[in-house]
Amino acid sequence: MISQSEIKKIVEEARKEALEKQDILIYTLHKIQDKVENNYIPEESAKIISKELKIPLSKIYEVLTFYTMFSTKPRGKYVIRICTSLPCHVANGREIIEAIKDELKIDFGQTTKDGLFTLEETGCLGLCGVSPVIMINQEYYGNLTPEKVREILKNLKGGEEK
Ligand code: FES
Repeated sequence: MISQSEIKKIVEEARKEALEKQDILIYTLHKIQDKVENNYIPEESAKIISKELKIPLSKIYEVLTFYTMFSTKPRGKYVIRICTSLPCHVANGREIIEAIKDELKIDFGQTTKDGLFTLEETGCLGLCGVSPVIMINQEYYGNLTPEKVREILKNLKGGEEK
């Protein structure tokens, strides 16, 4: 869990980095979600943000539910977002999806039992030139093949076992 003083610090940082109120909120939510162990915005944190930024809690939840990169429920340490838009789909995106599902034994919207991976669907990630594309936390992976994606997942799993 992230403390109130940490949230205040992030809000201060956001005020320096972003000009518009909406940008400050998005920046703050990103930073907090990255810091919370299970990659989500806990209700308690949303309440503190609401107080600090003087934005109604309902507005914060509107933003949280509008943007798919945010979650109000705990997720895995690695959130895998698979682009399912047309250019990625025609570039064998289906095979990438099948390889990931098979490797992790989960479906979209699910988290592996060890709490490491959550699988999510997303629209175009803006990198159609290197499709098929996935995103793992803040990192993009393009020009994927089923072999490459299995390798990436194995490396992440391996890194956890060390
Ligand atoms: S369609 Fe997948 S990145 Fe654009």
